Amino acid sequence: MNFFLENFDLNVVQTDCIVVGIFKSLELTSSADILNKYSNDYISKLIHQGDINGEIGTNLLLYNVPNIISKRILLVGCGEKNNFKLCFLTKIIKNAIPVLNKSSIQHVFFSLNELYFCKNQTYWFIRKIISDIHKKIFKITTFFKKEIYLKSITFNIKDKNLLLSAQTALKHAKAISLGLTAAKKISNLPPNICNPLYLSLEAKKLSHTYKDNIEVTTIDSEKMKILGMHAYLAVGNGSKNKPYMSVIKYSKKNTFNKKVIVLIGKGLTFDSGGISIKPSQNMHEMKYDMCGAAAVYGALITAAELNLPLNVIGVLAGCENMPGGSSFRPGDVLNTMSGKTVEVLNTDAEGRLVLCDVFKYVERFSPNIVIDVATLTGACVTALGHYVTGLFSNNEILTNDLKKAAQQTDDKVWQLPLFDEYAQDIKSNIAHFSNVGNQGAGAITAAFFLSQFTKKYYWAHLDIAGTAWESGMNKGSTGRPVELLSQFLLNISNLNEC
Ligand code: BES
Ligand code: MN
Ligand code: ZN
Repeated sequence: MNFFLENFDLNVVQTDCIVVGIFKSLELTSSADILNKYSNDYISKLIHQGDINGEIGTNLLLYNVPNIISKRILLVGCGEKNNFKLCFLTKIIKNAIPVLNKSSIQHVFFSLNELYFCKNQTYWFIRKIISDIHKKIFKITTFFKKEIYLKSITFNIKDKNLLLSAQTALKHAKAISLGLTAAKKISNLPPNICNPLYLSLEAKKLSHTYKDNIEVTTIDSEKMKILGMHAYLAVGNGSKNKPYMSVIKYSKKNTFNKKVIVLIGKGLTFDSGGISIKPSQNMHEMKYDMCGAAAVYGALITAAELNLPLNVIGVLAGCENMPGGSSFRPGDVLNTMSGKTVEVLNTDAEGRLVLCDVFKYVERFSPNIVIDVATLTGACVTALGHYVTGLFSNNEILTNDLKKAAQQTDDKVWQLPLFDEYAQDIKSNIAHFSNVGNQGAGAITAAFFLSQFTKKYYWAHLDIAGTAWESGMNKGSTGRPVELLSQFLLNISNLNEC
């Protein structure tokens, strides 16, 4: 799918479909008005007949409109005039794409330029509309059917002062969509294909695709032994698919920026729970327990596509948690890479065991910022549901930067606390910590456990257990929080949108 920007005239353009807006007050946008004039009031007659009322999400496809060269016109409701909000686009696109996705419609021209006036509005309009189109289109594609006919969408940019903002938006949106789609694709794979080795090989490929900017190191279980990553290793011990950790180093050539940002993704390609086995209902969804790693992989693709002036290190912590004769057990005491010991009370609380060793490992990069992304706790789903990612941090500036990026992209987060009192919950009488608490607040005690290993740098934890995938007939990865991470990286690169 290609996106273009043009300054086109509606009466001259020759395409499969032109999309124009109408308002709720039965008022036409200027684009609709032009088409209406050329077609001798064809559109206003339809409106007065009551065929479309301008409500957000409503639309009407017109064929062979008199005096119009293009084959079709799609009228889309834009709500009240002077009260257009970016969030309306999601509904407009959600309902318009199924109408446009016919084999006879391949090229579409959007003339919705009445909805953005300044550079900032133009930037975010283009960003949002492309992001929404990508998300909607990806939903239509599955393993057994692929029915995307749309080939190109061209946006009408009338004011040449807005062109640069639109071009920047287009570039950013394309790079983010590429990262998001890559993340979705890899996390939707079944666990018999996407195992820790597969994940590491996909990561390795990035060093070929982005030769100049990306280097990938793979840490296998032998190297982990030498490094002393015994908690990570214990989680992988029950599976014949051995753990692999990928370290993807992105940096822009000739950048003097020495700031290092580390992104860590939980990459459990399958989490059966291990000896503390999960109930069988919905266990299949635990193939998505690598969505954190997938999001980090996607965000690095975006960073490389945009050639951001940063040093970003992505770590994919690939592992499989299975029951077996060599599995780790409840009762085991593990020696983590940091030297702290952990009493295992539940082998299903494995994410934090993998992550705590990765937190120690990344100290070698002297990072300024470390962000981990993990489908860490069912408790986070109980607390926040499926719309909002849980956010935890030991630093207020980092927290605010993540909240800002979340707000800009609508990739929502909500902060939960890490008060000292929670230390009680993960106390053990035989080791430094136990791996589970039993006083409720499961999302927080898990994050608190992580916080005990992240004291050397500014750190944030994103619990995406509720947001990484959708269940049921809508089953599939959402690619979250690739947009949030990408926006965070864009913001700290200081690449202003306008
Ligand atoms: N990967 C799961 C968390 C999860 C569960 C995410 C359901 C999404 C949906 C994690 O490894 C896990 O099993 N956590 C346990 C922790 C418990 C044993 C303290 C959980 O949340 O039940
Ligand atoms: Mn688990
Ligand atoms: Zn898990």
